[in-house]
Parts: sequence; C-alpha cells; structure tokens
Amino acid sequence: MTTPPYLDPHADVETRIDDLLSRMTTEEKVGQMLMLDARGDLNEAITVRRAGSILHTSPELMGEAHRLAAATRLGIPLLVADDGIHGHSFWPGATIFGTQLSMACTWDRDLITRAGRITATEMAATGMHWTFSPVLCITRDLRWGRVNETFGEDPYLISELGTAMIRGYQGRGLGDPDSVLACAKHFAGYSETQGGRDASEADISRRKLRSWFLPPFQAAAEAGAGTFMLGYQSMDGVPITANRWLIRDVLKGEWGYDGLLVTDWDNVGRMVWEQQVCLDITEAAAVAIAAGNDVIMTTPTFFEGALAALEEGRVSHAELDAAVRRILRLKFRLGLFEDPRHPDLARQATIANPTHAAANLQIARRSLVLLTNNQTLPFDGGLSADVDGRATSESVRTIAVIGPNADDPQAMLGDWAGASGQVGWLPDGQPRSAIQTVLDGFGDVAPRHWRISHHLGAEIGHLVPDPAGTHFPDGQPRPDIFVPADPDPDLIAEAVAAASAADLAVVVVGDTIALTGEGRSTATLDLQGGQIALLDAIAATGTPMVVVLVASKPSTLPTSALTAGAIIAAFNPGMRGGQAIAELVLGLIEPTGRLPLSFARHVGQQPVYYNQVRGQHGSRYADLTQRPLFAFGHGLSYTEVDYTDLRLDATMLTPDATVRATVTLHNRGLRTALETVQAYVSDTVTSASWADQELKGFTQVEVLPGQTVAAVIEIPVAACSIVNADGVRAVEPGAFELRVGPSSEAERQMRAGFTVV
Ligand code: NOJ
Repeated sequence: MTTPPYLDPHADVETRIDDLLSRMTTEEKVGQMLMLDARGDLNEAITVRRAGSILHTSPELMGEAHRLAAATRLGIPLLVADDGIHGHSFWPGATIFGTQLSMACTWDRDLITRAGRITATEMAATGMHWTFSPVLCITRDLRWGRVNETFGEDPYLISELGTAMIRGYQGRGLGDPDSVLACAKHFAGYSETQGGRDASEADISRRKLRSWFLPPFQAAAEAGAGTFMLGYQSMDGVPITANRWLIRDVLKGEWGYDGLLVTDWDNVGRMVWEQQVCLDITEAAAVAIAAGNDVIMTTPTFFEGALAALEEGRVSHAELDAAVRRILRLKFRLGLFEDPRHPDLARQATIANPTHAAANLQIARRSLVLLTNNQTLPFDGGLSADVDGRATSESVRTIAVIGPNADDPQAMLGDWAGASGQVGWLPDGQPRSAIQTVLDGFGDVAPRHWRISHHLGAEIGHLVPDPAGTHFPDGQPRPDIFVPADPDPDLIAEAVAAASAADLAVVVVGDTIALTGEGRSTATLDLQGGQIALLDAIAATGTPMVVVLVASKPSTLPTSALTAGAIIAAFNPGMRGGQAIAELVLGLIEPTGRLPLSFARHVGQQPVYYNQVRGQHGSRYADLTQRPLFAFGHGLSYTEVDYTDLRLDATMLTPDATVRATVTLHNRGLRTALETVQAYVSDTVTSASWADQELKGFTQVEVLPGQTVAAVIEIPVAACSIVNADGVRAVEPGAFELRVGPSSEAERQMRAGFTVV
C-alpha cells in the first residue's frame, strides 16, 4: 500500500492538508476543533468525540492519551496543552517560578525568556506541546482575582515581557522538540472588569481596546505566538466568542495572524447557560464557528451542536474546513505527524535540575521590591557570604520570623501551582522539600549561630462550602467561601513575646490561594483575618520590624506597616523565594525589583493605574488623595542614585526618527545599585483625550558605589502615538516631553522637550 500524501514528510504542508481533509469525515473534522478535559473519560474524548487536543492530563495518563490518538483511523496526532504559566505547574517536582506578576518586577526581558525556556524544556519532556501562557491582560482593578497572572498595568512593559516569554517558550521555532507553543491570552479586554468582578461585562470601546488592551497582543502576534486564547467577558453586548470584529477583522484580518485561536473554558456553552444569548448548543456552535474560532475548549456538546448546525445549513462546510485547516497546519508545522513528541523519560530526568533551580533563585532575587526602608535594612549594616552563600557574622542575633505566610509553601507559589485547585493529582501541592519558605530561607542563609524562631501570630481565614452548591452548571468546581479569622490573642501574645526578645522581627503577611484566582476577586484589599492586629502588636514592641508582603497582588497597608522599618513586596516569588527574601534582609543581595503596577492606599481608589486619561476635575477625592500608595515603577535600592543632566541628541524629529536621550546616574552610597531607568513620553496636546504619560522605554544599568555612568534610552518616534477619535493610531506632530527617572512619579523625573515635525 502506498503512503498517503498527508503522511509524506517531503510533501508541501498545504498539499498534505488538502489530502488529509479529503479523507476526513465531518465528525473527524468537528472533533479536531474540540479540546477536551483529559480528567474525564479519555477514551470517550479521543476515540468517540475524536478530540484534536486535550488539557489537564495527569502524568499517569499522558502516554495513554498519545496512544489513543495514534490508534484513531487517520492517526492524527494530539495537541496536548496545559497551564504552565510560571513553570510546569501541575507536574510534581517541576521548577515553579514566581507568578507572572512577580517575574514582572524584574523588568528584565532576558530573565523572563530564561524562565520561559526552562518551562518549555520541562513541559516538552513530559509530552506537552502547548502552554497557556503568557497572560497579556493589563491590570486595571486590583480587586480582580487574576492580577497575579498579569505582567502588571502597563501595555509597553507587558509587550516587552510578553514577547520575551514567548521567545523562551517557542525556542528555535515550531519544529523544535524542546519547545512548546505559547498562548497569548486572554484576547482581549477581559481585565476591564466592573468592580473587579471576574468575567463581568467589560465596558470598553473599540478605541479603548486599540489604545491600551490590544498593543500587547499585536506585539505577541508579531513575535509569532503560536496560539491565542479568548477571555470570558462580553463587550457592548457581544460575548467575546461571538466577536467577529475582534477575531476576524482585527486578529486574522488586520494583523494577518495565522496561528490558532482557542476559546476559554466552555465559552461556547456559556453563550447558552451563562450569557444566555444563544437558544441552544446548535446555535452557539454556529455562532462560534462563524466568528472565526478554531479550537473549542471543554464544551463536549460542541460536537453534536456543530454537526447539527452543519446539517441545518447554519454554518458552512467551508467555514468548518477553514478552522480545521488551521489546526492541521499547526500540527504539520510542529512536525507531529513525524514525531508526535511522546513523553520522554530520559529528558524528564532534567526536570528541576540544579541549573533550573539556580535560575529560579536568580529570578526570585531580582523580583523583590523594597517599598520602604528607614535604614533598617540591610540588617546589621549588611552581611557578607561564605563560599556556600551563607551569611557570616561575629555577633549573635535573634530574628523572630512571624506571620501566617512565613512558613506556608503554597503562599510562595501562588495560583496555578500544585495544590491551587485546578487539578486533583497534587492534593498536597508541589513537594515541600523543593520549596523554600521565608523561614526556610533564614535557616539556610543566616549565620549558623544566630537564633531564628518562628511564630504564626495570626490566621488569615478559612473556607466554608458555598450554599449554592459545589459545582457551577458547566461542571467547574465552585470555590468555597472565605471567612476571615478573628485576631487570636494567644497567637499574638506569643509573637509579641518573641519579637520583644529579638533583634529583628520579620513579619510575613499577605493573602492565600482562597483569595486568589478565577472567580475569587476580593471586595477589599486590606490584609485579612488577624494580620493587621498582629502588625499593630509587633510594631508596638519597638523591635525593628520588616514587613514582607507575600501576596498575589498589592494590599492596602495599615499605619503599623507603613511606619515599619522596611516593607518588601514579594508577589508569590516561587520555590526559591524564601531564600531570596532572607538574602535581601541580610544584605547578601541588593534590592533591584521595580513595581509593574501601582499600590492603592484604599480600595476606593480603584482603578489606580498610573496612565489614566487626563481631564478630570482635580486630582483627589474630597476625603483622600488619588495618588497611589506606591507608584508604578517604584522600588528602592540600598543606596541612593541621583539622576542629572538629561540630554536629547536632537529635539526636532521626524516621525521616522528615534528619540535618543542620555541621563547621568551617580551612586552616592556604599552599595551597588541596579538602576531601572524609565522613560515616559507625554504628548502635550492631543486630538483626543489621552494618558498624561506612558512608559516607552527602559534600561537597566549597574552603578557601583561612587560611580557616575551615562544611561542611554532610545524611543522610536513612531511609538509616541495616540489612538485618535476615529480609532486610528497615529503620531500627531507637535510638542512632546520626555520624562526620565526611577519611577512614574513626577517629582522623581527629569524632563526634556522635543518636537515632532
Ligand atoms: C480558564 C482560564 O481562564 C484560562 O486562563 C486557562 O488557560 C483555562 N481555564 C485552562 O485551564
């Protein structure tokens, strides 16, 4: 028997697709569009419904899934996907990095590419082809439960870090078996919540989308992200799954995107049971295909719905073929017909190897943001390390490590890792021995003769079942209800006694997985449970106090924290985060992280992002300033760096030119700084209202004690654009201002004018 053309690796891809399509039944074609949950009946998913892709496959079932696909009539290989969003989340013992928000605090493209590369190699070795990452949503309202999954609030920073991560995941390209497909999600506008509520109708115009929400996705499309995923929300009455304008006109039309588009979880079903805009699954399937969706995630009845819609002529076979063609094209480009990339035990031996763990530690170190410091840190003036990285000291000190997140492994990892609730095969989470909590960190790096004690001090809260039931109508588990704990006088008394007798109190507060994630937005940003009472009580001891915020997102903070010796933000910093925090407190490393989003003083300031549109009356509420608690870009060093002498090479520029600026940095302290020099552009007069300033460039420069160095920033004038009232992005000639400084705060920026002619 001769080999059919679709199995001929030397034939041209389109010829192979034509041949394969001509052999496929309608059922097989619809099946290719299905992505099903591998935790269900795998045989039913792959053999009966002929699913072209699966997600949430346990390590035990991975081989079986590949075998079932190989045994189907045409042997079309599977696409196996999962949420490896900060490491190979659900693989026992994989390298789990800090959350995307944590990694964003590094402002370091190369480190983020490195995290993506490590995740890709670990995932690829286990039979996975596709990770649902990066998240390119812009944080708007801090109450939203998914802030931790974002790179923060700025479209430019998100574009830079998002494309860096995509490069890491996709490595040498689609044919690289050590790589995975990236997925730019959630396309687009999902994070424009109402009141922070997850997946609420987004009140967002096309102009606003083009202004701030779409640029990171366009950058991802240009960077070759293999796939895109939709969000959940509706805009202007149209569920995202039915949004032909966004999918067909913008993504596939204007941007010429030729990768795959996958819906989010049961988006097609939701148009029937949740948004109630389709009468039944037949209508919903027809709407989804017509809008241009390719892969339908976890709506098994899409199979019957699409077959009925085709039978009734509500959608054409040509539209079905177009979607299936895109799916097959990707499978051919990946080379899966030749090598379906089954799990590879030999390569799995490299998962979480010491090189990966070292990179993870490096990223964690760079992710910590020193928010305040009244000379308390580095502790004892800063220690130096021995050859093993442990601090050395002649003196004897006592450190009381206190707080509900001081020794909580899941708090180090955050959402989408082990026991965060999405899959059931890791009930106890990632191996405890692979995770360094803050307490572990001090044990590992403080001088051996120092006394390190540990005290819980407070509980955050507990969960009770939701009386509405254990599951949503789509079968997804319904989160339990969070009940904050009352302050516990006994726990506080024990912590106070320890702090009083210590040289330093390190109080580790924050949130828990119960207050994080999909469907788990919070009404308040305050520290929950007994944490504020604990902070107040420790502050009252008079012992120097360092507050470490191990949390999924910014919290509002009580006075006792704001007046503490220092505050460190550590957004779920990953498996090695505890060591990095201890090293920072002891001065073994420098603080280098910068905030990729703004902290609020009060929940009522939402939204508090820095790049708001100018034109409102005044800049404060009657009862509170609108200024953030900590501004976008903020982060201290253990030294002071002065910015002087901002100069532009030229001040009259044409639209195709580049703004080239130099600023002088001088380190007037005794410790090294890694300065993140940030450049913002303000368009003085715009044809439509616009943000007062936007980040357009940044560079990181090491400045040694006493050293003076020049930092150079280049910004294409083409990037100094606005979206005008007609929805067209353009550079508008006239006067601009370049603002350069260590953060977005006006008081800390230098300014220089230029004109676009
Ligand atoms: C729903 C989430 O919104 C999405 O981000 C995720 O990738 C999918 N579930 C699959 O787990």
